[in-house]
Amino acid sequence: MTVSNRSTPKEQLMIAIAPEVAKIEEAMQRDLQTATSGCDPLLVAVLEYGVFNGGKRLRPLLVLLAARLASHAGDKIVDLAIAFEYLHAATLFHDDVIDRADIRRGKPSVNKAFGEIAAILGGDFLHSRSLFLIGSLGGPEALGIFCQATNAMVDGEFLQLRNAENYNLSEDDYFSAVKGKTALLIAATCEIGALAGGATREKQKVLAEYGLGLGTAFQIIDDLLDYQGDPALTGKAVGNDFQEGKMTLPLILALGGASPEDRKRLLFLLEKDEARESGFAEAYAVIDKNEGFALSRSRAESIIAAAVAGLEFFSEEGNMDTIAILRALAEYVLVRKK
Ligand code: IPE
Ligand code: IPE
Ligand code: MG
Ligand code: MG
Repeated sequence: MTVSNRSTPKEQLMIAIAPEVAKIEEAMQRDLQTATSGCDPLLVAVLEYGVFNGGKRLRPLLVLLAARLASHAGDKIVDLAIAFEYLHAATLFHDDVIDRADIRRGKPSVNKAFGEIAAILGGDFLHSRSLFLIGSLGGPEALGIFCQATNAMVDGEFLQLRNAENYNLSEDDYFSAVKGKTALLIAATCEIGALAGGATREKQKVLAEYGLGLGTAFQIIDDLLDYQGDPALTGKAVGNDFQEGKMTLPLILALGGASPEDRKRLLFLLEKDEARESGFAEAYAVIDKNEGFALSRSRAESIIAAAVAGLEFFSEEGNMDTIAILRALAEYVLVRKK
């Protein structure tokens, strides 16, 4: 297929990754059929509902791209890659219980559609399957990296819990939670993809660094979309973080620069459950006025610029199409609407 010159960067990226995404979907269908053979029909239904519902498949895609950069294109890599989507889906099943979220990927969340017990158990199944795939296909070193990232994710969630309702939260505390809950897993996709593809330790580390930046910016944008996104596109509710009293970057940066009156008003809106619900529009306006959104975006932009610059390391190599996709993915993170 030829790519029209008039297609947007996003369309070009989607066309470039389509074959990989199709391989990922197909591998998950096949693998889950095997893994759930003989299992309770409700478990099968929960997994079908919660896994095959329009996720972006960013994490397994990064595994395939990192492996390709390391010049390995073996068939086994895709089964290693889907382990990351399973772990991610498991964390989303559990996250929507934790965050009391009703909507995910544009549909009722698993907890809403099947109940909390089904969401927790379905997540456990996917988590276990992800460990089996990484351990059996990636070996002990990959398993070590994977488990370290998973532990960091849990720890990051605990830190986020501790951070909630700490209205003096620093930017550093926010970034520590983001690193744990999102960025280290995305770094691990790149590192394990490179490892499985036979890359040198140095290349694995360079790619992990790219993943860390990509993952950090990804979460900043996610937190912006929680205020500014269109639910029809994100597939998630708007305003959930504020209502949960979650101290994300727009709020932290706005509070940091606000006048005493604006600060007082924002804190008032945050402190009471009822005010959080009815005061979202007002809080949004105060955050906007104090540049909370613009400053958050510019943090994400600097992080992405550094991640892209790190890819220079590979510029001597004959794999420019893969590097171009990694660059485009980084740019896409900044403009994504879903
Ligand atoms: C959502 O991840 C959770 C975060 C870490 C922000 P994604 O935005 O990758 O979710 P899907 O898989 O595409 O639905
Ligand atoms: C998603 O975090 C879960 C993890 C990264 C572990 P969030 O709660 O911030 O993401 P969404 O907005 O529900 O997707
Ligand atoms: Mg959460
Ligand atoms: Mg959530």
